Amino acid sequence: MNQRLKQLPNILLNAGGGIVSNKDEWAQKRRKELVELFRTHVYGRTPVRRPESMRIAVKAEDLMMDGLAVRKKIEIQYEGPGGTGKLPFVLFIPAKADKPVPAFVLINNRGTAVADPDRKQLSGFWPAELLIEREYAAAVFQVEDVDPDVHDEFRNGVHGLFDPPLDKRPGDAWGTIAAWAWGASRVMDALEEEAAIDASRIALAGHSRGGKTALWAGAEDERFAMVVSNNSGCTGAALSRGKQGERISHINASFPHWFAENYKQYNDREDELPVDQHMLLGLIAPRLLYVSSATEDSWADPESEFLSLIAVQPIYKLHGYDGIGAETMPAAETPISSERLGYHLRTGDHDLTEYDWRCFIDFADANLI
Ligand code: GCU
Repeated sequence: MNQRLKQLPNILLNAGGGIVSNKDEWAQKRRKELVELFRTHVYGRTPVRRPESMRIAVKAEDLMMDGLAVRKKIEIQYEGPGGTGKLPFVLFIPAKADKPVPAFVLINNRGTAVADPDRKQLSGFWPAELLIEREYAAAVFQVEDVDPDVHDEFRNGVHGLFDPPLDKRPGDAWGTIAAWAWGASRVMDALEEEAAIDASRIALAGHSRGGKTALWAGAEDERFAMVVSNNSGCTGAALSRGKQGERISHINASFPHWFAENYKQYNDREDELPVDQHMLLGLIAPRLLYVSSATEDSWADPESEFLSLIAVQPIYKLHGYDGIGAETMPAAETPISSERLGYHLRTGDHDLTEYDWRCFIDFADANLI
């Protein structure tokens, strides 16, 4: 057994003592404790779910991709004590499907250039044509439409709508990653109302900061049947204890708005955190979970991403599913999977590419059924 796995807090040990021995105890007790720990110490507490005022407006609908896909431009509108907000997103649906289709939702942190709704600019970051060809709907939203990725002391975006004034902001108030995760759940709300989509088969995917977001969204919102974390690194899939590359102190210094204020207590004190990131992966269980890494992505630390998946296996086993089927990292371009867990390492840099998507889709074809 890898030494680092021995240093981790025990995912199965209840707060009051005693080891979780079955899936009901996990769901009713330990899972709830862990969600609370992540809210309190890491991502913060989301103050609102679906706002009562929320409305979903279809702004445009047309045929694209030589008639192969219906494009819908949808706008989610909401209001809070601080004013009104809107989250637009684009949805492509296979035009010829004769029954509701599964969907991939991408949390896009790289702007519309990599997710062009008009498909004039194509990118492997969001290969919507490939998803349509493989009979998946493809949805994408821009993180900045939920909450701009700058530290402005929580005035803009959804924080400005729902948060108390800064001097009344508790240490466990939600950060920007939790705000983006909230946006993903609102897109899920809208997809649930789309007759052409099978809402019980929606995969949420994100790269890097978007991957951290996908994991937290999947933890908080169990409607997502599958979660994909690509190169999510620090405070994403990667274990924090013993991590190489980016550490908690780095991420809190560069991105002071991403997490709860309480998380800053753990700068250079990873060992004092009551959780580690395998527990975040555990909150996705027993749903489908896919983690991917890239060989050159030392800042995210592929080994820490892989080990986290090893450390979550007991939770899948508790539910009667196999582990990932390997104890050491597979070679590059050699995806491994079981019926609920998938992993691959891609040669190259920190990025989301068409190769990665083909692996996610292959895994979904086999298991998102
Ligand atoms: C920075 C940050 C990472 C993050 C990445 C990204 O490198 O330190 O934590 O994952 O940006 O979002 O691309």
